[in-house]
Amino acid sequence: MKPLRLFSLVTLTAAAVLAPLGAIEITLPAETDRLIESPLPGYALATTYCYTCHSTDYVRVQPPGMNRAAWRASVVKMQKTFGAPIPDDVIDPIAEYLARTYGAERAAAPAKK
Ligand code: HEC
Repeated sequence: MKPLRLFSLVTLTAAAVLAPLGAIEITLPAETDRLIESPLPGYALATTYCYTCHSTDYVRVQPPGMNRAAWRASVVKMQKTFGAPIPDDVIDPIAEYLARTYGAERAAAPAKK
């Protein structure tokens, strides 16, 4: 009988310690590190080639007046200076997407009321 009692004690103690842990819920913060969705082909390309090294904050904090040539230069810099494996033929579509979504070519923001 003695070994059985010891077993019960261990089981009960374990249950008492572990049960409250089951009540812990972890709520993750909303996923905000995403590029703005777009039907432009450059959107899918940017999600393929621009998420690997840094957050999308780098894109978001660029001046809204940045034109397509400046965005293009930025993508080329990722490729040439930082060694991002970005194929040449996706540079223009990505630059177009960035200029039209974050830069000088985007539709005017709705007026504040
Ligand atoms: C190989 C890694 C790598 C990839 C992939 C990459 N970047 Fe970068 N990016 C960097 C580094 C390194 C910096 C500089 C970080 C710093 O200065 O702290 C940077 C900085 C930036 C900046 C800030 C301005 C600047 O020139 O420093 C922008 C905008 C940017 N990246 C956009 C992009 C876009 C758009 C893509 C996809 C086409 C991309 N990055 C993909 C490495 C990468």
